[in-house]
Amino acid sequence: MYKIVFMRHGESTWNLENRFTGWTDVDLTEKGVKEAKTAGRLLREAGFTFDLAYTSVLKRAIRTLWLAMDEMDMMWLPVKNDWRLNERHYGALQGLDKGETAAKFGDEQVLVWRRSYDTPPPALEENDPRTSFSDPRYAGLDKAQIPLTECLKDTVARVMPAWDEEIAPAIRAGKKILISAHGNSLRAVIKMLDNISDTDIVGLNIPNGTPLVYELDENLKPIRHYYLGDQEAIAAAMAAVANQGKAK
Ligand code: 3PG
Repeated sequence: MYKIVFMRHGESTWNLENRFTGWTDVDLTEKGVKEAKTAGRLLREAGFTFDLAYTSVLKRAIRTLWLAMDEMDMMWLPVKNDWRLNERHYGALQGLDKGETAAKFGDEQVLVWRRSYDTPPPALEENDPRTSFSDPRYAGLDKAQIPLTECLKDTVARVMPAWDEEIAPAIRAGKKILISAHGNSLRAVIKMLDNISDTDIVGLNIPNGTPLVYELDENLKPIRHYYLGDQEAIAAAMAAVANQGKAK
């Protein structure tokens, strides 16, 4: 049996401000820093050890990983930064207030943009200053690989090659892996691992800064999964994520 631990980053400044974030590179809040440290402490106390960590190229996930590694006294852990683990690109919604957007377009439309499997939010224009075309961290990519918006299906299409080519072979080779990523890039991985339908994935919300342990069989099929920490607080945090896209 194999084990892998997923972790969404701690609260970011735009989580706090309730803005659509996507590929915008915002940092953690003080609360987010605490959540990341708590995640590391919970992993340490539960006796987890790791050989390798993966994260995105966005600082909220990277810093969450660093803080958790520090808490586990594992700053030495090899880390692979992979852009394919980035948050789902939120298109022209990036920077907008989620509640205000719901007040303007309706809760249902915002739910479609946030959670539908195959309807992307409106795309950024190519000349929008929010595009990532001139960002040096994506310099090695073809322009076509840099999104202007993404639905979850698009995110699955970029995340799964990272899983199949990098992460799954490392798990099979016996490496114990910690992944620090984002709400929707993790929903993409979990959808594929647990074979969740396009309809049911709408209801999956991932709380910030909480270790999510997956136990996998020899074919990397999930046997069971569980969050570490106070289960009531975790359920409340998941419900709060679901409610972020509603008009006040
Ligand atoms: C964002 O990109 O705004 C968040 O990290 C995830 O947002 P969501 O829960 O609204 O999809």
